[in-house]
Amino acid sequence: MNLLTAKNISHTYDYELFHDISLELNERDSVAIIGISGSGKSTLLHILSTLLHSNSGSVWLFGEEVAKMSKQKLAQIKRDELGLVFQSHYLFKGFSAYENLEVAALLANEEIDPLLLERLKITQNMPQKVTELSGGQQQRVSIARVLTKKPRIIFADEPTGNLDKTTAKEVMDLFFEYCEKENASLILVTHDEKLAFMCKNVYKLENKELLRLQ
Ligand SMILES: Nc1ncnc2c1ncn2[C@@H]1O[C@H](COP(=O)(O)OP(=O)(O)OP(=O)(O)O)[C@@H](O)[C@H]1O
Ligand SMILES: [Mg+2]
Repeated sequence: MNLLTAKNISHTYDYELFHDISLELNERDSVAIIGISGSGKSTLLHILSTLLHSNSGSVWLFGEEVAKMSKQKLAQIKRDELGLVFQSHYLFKGFSAYENLEVAALLANEEIDPLLLERLKITQNMPQKVTELSGGQQQRVSIARVLTKKPRIIFADEPTGNLDKTTAKEVMDLFFEYCEKENASLILVTHDEKLAFMCKNVYKLENKELLRLQ
């Protein structure tokens, strides 16, 4: 089943970042996007995850064009189906790690999975305030929060940027297993080519185009 299609996306800020980018994402797909700093990877991810409107082209989620969806429908999809792991974590700072997960579980009507916390090695951190956690721990709590809501599409922008190599690889394995189990899919932006090539499809954003490498 098709989860996301992007058709002929172009975007310009001060200059044209990219043009005519098309992409398809089906159940259990994983896509990595690499490219030099400033090439527009995060911007593209923002467009695909509906946080930003592109200058031209269209994004389709679950067979429906985002620009033509009702506000309610789009809000429902964002709440229930899209999981965002971005460079800044957006955890609720005044709350504990556990409370952050509780909010996600409550909103999505799901349970917090103790196994997930074990896999991410954050079980011990649950009582701690977000501000007391290291960058890498915060990153893993945000990954746990996103997976707790059981999204169909995970958009991840350098989700393992603060992690050591071993932990980063474990987090990637967790994402892949999650996608297999929940018929979900992953779009990953990363500078780490090794992690990128763990994905089924690899693209490079270069010279305003999305080149397929794998
Ligand atoms: N809101 C904005 N307004 C104007 N220009 C922007 C905006 N957001 C990003 N840009 C510019 O667009 C270009 C691409 O930014 P983007 O964050 O998408 O790059 P990136 O490939 O994710 O880089 P990095 O690997 O460093 O994260 C940059 O030159 C940036 O300055
Ligand atoms: Mg970026």
